[in-house]
Amino acid sequence: MAKLIDGKRISQEIKDELKEQVTALKEQGKTGALAVIQVGHDPASSVYVRNKKNACAYIGIESLSYELEEDTTQQELLHLIEKLNQDGNVKGILVQLPVPEHIDENAVIRAIRPDKDVDGFHPQSVGAMAIGQPGFLPCTPSGIIQLLKRSGVGIEGKHCVIIGRSNIVGKPMALLMLRENATVTITHSKTQDLKALCKSADILIAALGKPLFVTAEYVKEGAVVIDVGIHRKEDNKLCGDVDFAQVEPLASAITPVPGGVGPMTIAMLMQNCVHSIAGNEERV
Ligand code: GUN
Repeated sequence: MAKLIDGKRISQEIKDELKEQVTALKEQGKTGALAVIQVGHDPASSVYVRNKKNACAYIGIESLSYELEEDTTQQELLHLIEKLNQDGNVKGILVQLPVPEHIDENAVIRAIRPDKDVDGFHPQSVGAMAIGQPGFLPCTPSGIIQLLKRSGVGIEGKHCVIIGRSNIVGKPMALLMLRENATVTITHSKTQDLKALCKSADILIAALGKPLFVTAEYVKEGAVVIDVGIHRKEDNKLCGDVDFAQVEPLASAITPVPGGVGPMTIAMLMQNCVHSIAGNEERV
């Protein structure tokens, strides 16, 4: 029986710590807002945006909401970002992705000032992370590091296999695990003998975006399994990239879906906002 890595509990613990820090910062006169921009009305994005605003309210920081129509032009969006870049009260800017197809996502990411880039997506933030310099870390991978550390899972010297190479999860995850002295393998859809590689992992991180892909054949007995996927099944229940029922009996520890990685992403976004309000140089 695997130990359940409880992201809901750990994210709550982090948000409670942050709430105290926000109170202390207010006493020093340090405040600031997170600007949250959504373009269009994608229902999943609306849920994420609402959760982010609720988390701001919980820890006691202001959130500014910009709900733009689907047909907003790139120029209009870039103009808003520039206005928020210049606004001294705004300490974090977040554009919920994906943006509609007529808008160049990379141009939007590049427009956000790196010192307000609380998503950690700007090329400067990514570069700083790669060479171990101060900058905002992307929220899902840094949340996974926190999950492992706060669950007592040792990372140093372990073989970590990551399935998926997205800019938001797979690639930054590899860099952060490397920084924790893991030995890292990144795998993807063209990887040969994926099962054997995964089976050699001490820590297996599934971030490929395919429901129930990771079955028992991919997992070594005693491995730690982290599931980044979230999908809705035909019966309306949620599942991840990992077939939990098959893998759980083999693993030594595993994250559930929901209640594993998901809540950590928002907790780490709040962490980044608090670092920004505090004016911390070292934002790790
Ligand atoms: N879309 C999916 N994940 C994220 C995220 O972490 N941040 C933003 N801005 N959009 C997303």
